[in-house]
Amino acid sequence: MAARPIIIDTDPGQDDAIALLLALASPELDVLGITTVAGNVPLALTEVNARKVCELAGRSDAKVFAGCARPMLRPLVTAESVHGKTGLDGPDLPAPTMPLQPEHAVDWLVDTLMAAADGSITLCPLGPLTNIAMAIVREPRIVPKIREIVLMGGGFFEGGNTTPTAEFNIYVDPHAAHVVFTCGARLTMHPLDVTHKALMSKAWIDSLGKLGTKVGAAAAAMLTFYERFDMEKYGEDGGPLHDPCVIAWLLRPELFGGKECAVRIETGSELTMGQTVVDWWGVTGLEKNCTVINRIDSDGFYALILERLARL
Ligand code: RIB
Ligand code: CA
Repeated sequence: MAARPIIIDTDPGQDDAIALLLALASPELDVLGITTVAGNVPLALTEVNARKVCELAGRSDAKVFAGCARPMLRPLVTAESVHGKTGLDGPDLPAPTMPLQPEHAVDWLVDTLMAAADGSITLCPLGPLTNIAMAIVREPRIVPKIREIVLMGGGFFEGGNTTPTAEFNIYVDPHAAHVVFTCGARLTMHPLDVTHKALMSKAWIDSLGKLGTKVGAAAAAMLTFYERFDMEKYGEDGGPLHDPCVIAWLLRPELFGGKECAVRIETGSELTMGQTVVDWWGVTGLEKNCTVINRIDSDGFYALILERLARL
């Protein structure tokens, strides 16, 4: 079967990095390009981090683009407290030598999608949705070209991780999220309701280190640094690994479960800004625009990541 063409939009970020490694290690996926956005840390760092991870994976041939340096309307909010000042604290990865592509990520997204067949390319946003929304606003004709948008973001029964009601990716750019959730493309959302059900264990992180590879050692160092914040905040023995859920779902959807729902984004109230309002019980009669994932086979998820990272 031909590899599934995907574009990953990302704000690395240690969990983004694991998602990138998982995608680059999986022949079922054809990563057409990696577009970077401001989020966990400023764009100047997320684009460098994406290139560091590609080189770590032995994929200096990958195409990495820099996109938007700030949200559409609101000022940028970053998360150095979680990811460290570089956004990829943990391992000491060398500065990248592979080039950053000259085209702006939004321009490349539009050009690539406009040249593609209808319904052919899957977009995998792992950070704030600024690049995706700007591409849709710039050229609405790209929407029919999108097979599906499979994103990490949001939270409903689980609430938020940045405010009581908003998850970071949606909170940073709620207006971009509104554009994406109302554009008409097929959507699958991996919110905190699923990512908080798959917590890393120290034994699993140690198994990465025991792979005896550069990738395994770097991944173990990243995640040991990264999970401390959530462990302290939630008082659990491990932290959630958010972004790889998107890639794992593409590879093995049977590990996940969810429900078609109407999902809308709060952009009016400062108190609940960026909330993903999920009509789980179908009371609004609104169009069901999104598959909301809320179940995961945690053991299967972590076994998949370990098996694939061992290939790099
Ligand atoms: O809320 C978790 C999300 O915010 C993840 O994508 C993480 O990388 C950060 O971007
Ligand atoms: Ca991310």
